[in-house]
Amino acid sequence: MNIVSIIVAYDPNYLIGRDGKLPWHISNDLKYFKKLTMGNPVIMGRKTYESIGRPLPNRYNIIVTRDKNFTQDNCSIQYSLEDAVIKAKNYCEANNCEEIFIIGGSDIYNQSINIIKRAYITEVHKEFEGDSFFQPLGSEWIEITRQYQGNEIDEIPHSFVVFEKNGD
Ligand SMILES: NC(=O)c1ccc[n+]([C@@H]2O[C@H](COP(=O)([O-])OP(=O)(O)OC[C@H]3O[C@@H](n4cnc5c(N)ncnc54)[C@H](OP(=O)(O)O)[C@@H]3O)[C@@H](O)[C@H]2O)c1
Repeated sequence: MNIVSIIVAYDPNYLIGRDGKLPWHISNDLKYFKKLTMGNPVIMGRKTYESIGRPLPNRYNIIVTRDKNFTQDNCSIQYSLEDAVIKAKNYCEANNCEEIFIIGGSDIYNQSINIIKRAYITEVHKEFEGDSFFQPLGSEWIEITRQYQGNEIDEIPHSFVVFEKNGD
């Protein structure tokens, strides 16, 4: 049994990106992302892949694109989100992993909302400028845990919040 989750960081206005990149640099959040996703399949839109610029090590990288000519070494290329999730589930069954992470960006998050069960949200407690936004979770999402980060680290204050869909 494996579950499909999203992992995303947003500012108080649900901003997630600027000019194809993250608007901020928060090492503590990058470490959190790495720890959670390690060993698991990660599904991303082609633009997010290009923003990262390389396959994420020790994770099964799945890139979603409509471009049949797109190729990338050491990644699985899929032409629909549905096919990407099937591929990830097959990988999990063969490799004993329990969670599939959809890692963005905006376009892919928007299409994922009905297929995910859990959302790992990093709330960045500072406003930024940018052009890519997350569509806020609806009232069917219940907050499970919240950990404030910022007292002991010299970084932009942020909180790690986990939501699960009510009734699942
Ligand atoms: N703050 C965060 O947590 C976070 C996380 C990830 C990304 N981001 C930011 O988000 C921004 C990128 O988001 P974005 O919305 O512009 O792009 P994106 O979601 O990363 O990628 C969009 C691309 O994915 C492909 N695609 C989307 N839906 C598809 C479908 N149903 N079937 C097949 N292919 C599909 C298309 O690729 P083709 O054009 O190749 O067909 C589309 O252009 C960047 O600024 C990035 O830094 C932020």
